Amino acid sequence: MPLFDVYPLYNVTPVSGVDMHVYDEKEVEYLDLYGGHAVISIGHSHPSYVKAITNQVSKLGFYSNAIQNPLQVELADKIESLSGCKGYELFLCNSGAEANENALKLASFKTGKSRVVAFKNGFHGRTSAAVAATDNPNIIAPINAQQKVTILPLNDVEGVKKELEKGDVCAVILEFIQGVGGLDQGTAEFFEQVDALCKANNTYLIADEVQSGYGRSGKFFAFQYYNVTPEVISIAKGMGNGFPIGGILIHPNIEAKYGMLGTTFGGNHLACAAGVAVLNTIEEENLIANVNEISEYFISVAKTIPQIKNIKGRGLMIGLEFDFEVGELRKKLIYEYHIFTGGASNKRLIRILPPLTIKKSHVDQFFKALNEVLKTVEK
Ligand SMILES: Cc1ncc(COP(=O)(O)O)c(C=O)c1O
Repeated sequence: MPLFDVYPLYNVTPVSGVDMHVYDEKEVEYLDLYGGHAVISIGHSHPSYVKAITNQVSKLGFYSNAIQNPLQVELADKIESLSGCKGYELFLCNSGAEANENALKLASFKTGKSRVVAFKNGFHGRTSAAVAATDNPNIIAPINAQQKVTILPLNDVEGVKKELEKGDVCAVILEFIQGVGGLDQGTAEFFEQVDALCKANNTYLIADEVQSGYGRSGKFFAFQYYNVTPEVISIAKGMGNGFPIGGILIHPNIEAKYGMLGTTFGGNHLACAAGVAVLNTIEEENLIANVNEISEYFISVAKTIPQIKNIKGRGLMIGLEFDFEVGELRKKLIYEYHIFTGGASNKRLIRILPPLTIKKSHVDQFFKALNEVLKTVEK
């Protein structure tokens, strides 16, 4: 049976991985500055992670949400202590889109309203309401387009005020650092005013931390750079280091009700074991401090390269913007220098989303290759 052909593929076949590297079937080593799309947080096949998953699956891989599962409680406690989000409650699911879908559903249930405000170049996933809140008409099917969503420019405080005061908006959903859109960020003033407008209008602020969360921004959550209190925080990617797991953190003022949210696979034993191992490693290896140290180093070197016109993002969620399209450059980095990087909807931007374990030597390797490629790439 052929695979449904929805992905344009690079001709590389990774079969194993160790920390910052993946290896193909001929044992060629690739430096992973893409992290499988910001997913690999603690490094490929981290020994404690492999051990935790292996132990768990040999005992009990899955049981449904109808029984006591102390691993969910352990994961929730660990997220609370590392994130500092005191009193928030955790609902577990399986992916980023599902996290946002549940966040939007919760906002709608609780406020009794149904319109969503989202932002230009935002990306929130491919499910019903999450994709409708995504600024990309190419991935919104007619069935998704039935959702009521208003997309505004980032930093348009007046626009947000006008929409929220109409009284029918259940949620404002935003990325504090945009991922797929190209690493743009709103201003502190914008974020803080949006938060205040949400509180004044019985509208939930949903912080989509699916990509920026779990230390990638240099703080546990990117919203923590600002004075805001989201009602709901969506998490996924780095949470399982590749094991599919997502979730939402829900503000203590929001009361649960049986049946309001639910899932078969979400919060299963194996996913929780992966999630706990990731957080233990982030803590034990002091990875958030490493994010800040390497980010500073990376940006200082990037500033010395004249072809880089703009450096965007924070932490290990960095965008390098050129004044030409970077498709050819990224291909050369992969095929000739064996370095994975990420793209964005902004075709002139390279996205750097490495495992949080990256060292200065990897940064040096990247810039050496980049400088060589830049000599050959046609503008
Ligand atoms: C900010 C953000 N939200 C949501 C998603 C959707 O996550 P998933 O692909 O796990 O459904 C993504 C994926 O790239 C994302 O970057």
